[in-house]
Amino acid sequence: MHNPALVECGIDAQYVRVQVPQGSVAEAFGLFAQHGFLGVNITIPHKFEALEAVHHLDPLAKQLGAVNTLVIREGGRLHGYNTDGPGFLRSVREAFGTDVRDLRVLILGAGGGAGRAVAVQCAMEGCWRLVLANRTHEKAAQVAKELRGLIPQPSPNRDISTVAWDDAHLHAELENIDLIVNATSVGMKMDDAPLLPASGLRPHHLVLDMVYRPGGRTPLVQDTLRAGGRAVDGLTLLLHQGAISFEHWFDRPAPVEVMRQGLQATVAA
Ligand SMILES: NC(=O)c1ccc[n+]([C@@H]2O[C@H](COP(=O)([O-])OP(=O)(O)OC[C@H]3O[C@@H](n4cnc5c(N)ncnc54)[C@H](OP(=O)(O)O)[C@@H]3O)[C@@H](O)[C@H]2O)c1
Repeated sequence: MHNPALVECGIDAQYVRVQVPQGSVAEAFGLFAQHGFLGVNITIPHKFEALEAVHHLDPLAKQLGAVNTLVIREGGRLHGYNTDGPGFLRSVREAFGTDVRDLRVLILGAGGGAGRAVAVQCAMEGCWRLVLANRTHEKAAQVAKELRGLIPQPSPNRDISTVAWDDAHLHAELENIDLIVNATSVGMKMDDAPLLPASGLRPHHLVLDMVYRPGGRTPLVQDTLRAGGRAVDGLTLLLHQGAISFEHWFDRPAPVEVMRQGLQATVAA
């Protein structure tokens, strides 16, 4: 998606993939700066190491505890950002025409890196209700404890709770949820066990599945659409994260539609 965007904007640059061994992120960033790189996207497993390797850390990246976008400014100054949370907000707005602050949100996989980022963003937005679930329950409980202080006040109707990772509890919880976010890795394979009891899905449900599968819908997206709800997969989030990275690098609006076409063409191929 980035190379079509660079062409569209007449920017004489290329987006390339570089593999960096663990433990070498700071050294790699130094080399990128020396060799004229403008910026970098950082992915698993380097997002935490990158946090320590920048000169200036954006407050949101600090809050999220991870850096996924680097901007190399004049003199080789390294600025670190995180586009996971803001990309999530844009995705919800685009897909469902609403803001998370008006929604009751359930995050499945809130104890993982992506789930925690989404939970932080929801807490900071003061979403109407926030419920965290994680296969390893203690992780969800820990995240809920950490995030309570982030809820903007006064807001008497807002809280962060957790729900046990079993069909009965999740089924009961779904009655009082508008937006379901899958931040687990479940669904990448069609034969993955269902994340949620399909009988609990209702026409009012909105689903953002962070997972995407080349060539098809994820099982959760399929189940939600079958139940009459609305659902998008992780490509929407990938697109908006990418667009926000582009905006950090070039300080101009990203050509989102060109990026969307680039992404779709790559996935289709
Ligand atoms: N679309 C995008 O732009 C985008 C961006 C970021 C991430 N993602 C996707 O989000 C997913 C999570 O990424 P991450 O970086 O957060 O990974 P992570 O830190 O490794 O977290 C993985 C999460 O999945 C849960 N999990 C794994 N297997 C499970 C299973 N069989 N049943 C239930 N829960 C299970 C883990 O629970 P435990 O804590 O119990 O192990 C944990 O909550 C990945 O699929 C990734 O591709 C997409």
